[in-house]
Amino acid sequence: KHPIAILISGRGSNMRALIEACARPDYPARIALVLSNRADATGIEVARQAGLPTKIIESKPLGRNRLAHEEQVNAALEEAGVEVVCLAGYMRVLTPFLVGAWKGRMLNIHPSLLPAFPGLDTHERAIEAGMTRHGCTVHLVTDGVDEGPILGQAEVPVHPDDTPHGLAARVLEEEHRLYPATLATFLLNRAISAR
Ligand code: GAR
Repeated sequence: KHPIAILISGRGSNMRALIEACARPDYPARIALVLSNRADATGIEVARQAGLPTKIIESKPLGRNRLAHEEQVNAALEEAGVEVVCLAGYMRVLTPFLVGAWKGRMLNIHPSLLPAFPGLDTHERAIEAGMTRHGCTVHLVTDGVDEGPILGQAEVPVHPDDTPHGLAARVLEEEHRLYPATLATFLLNRAISAR
């Protein structure tokens, strides 16, 4: 199994979906580290309960010094022997340092059908724009925020009476399917092309 890290900042429901997938004997990944940049991320407790190695490297005390924080994160990833990094609700914009260190080996899940609605408040913006389809994307992380090559997408309908909250819940269900499935395909393709 390929050792992966999951980076979170909050609830960690996508992390939980990945934990469940990794628990299957035939799944190609195992979780070497769950890392949070916030001590109050509720997902960290979920990871601990699952018996996984966890680490908190707080970004707040370092303020604007993004590089100092990322150097600590990178050291933790290397120490854990991680092959691929999965951002799962990791609410930090990365600098070219960390992006470069994990080029082609860092995935992110984003709650929209990219390239539509990069950034925040995607569900609200999709409703306001009158979209009839919305969804989520798993992509490789590059220097441009939410811009990397798309690895997988899942769609949901937008109903006329949808609230951002209701739409978010519908998309989130798809995220929990899409992320484990896309990661598995990514790892298998990588292994094939490395042969
Ligand atoms: C998810 O909807 C994820 O797509 C989104 O944050 C949520 C995290 O939920 N990510 C972003 O907006 C990235 N910019 P989770 O902590 O329960 O997985």
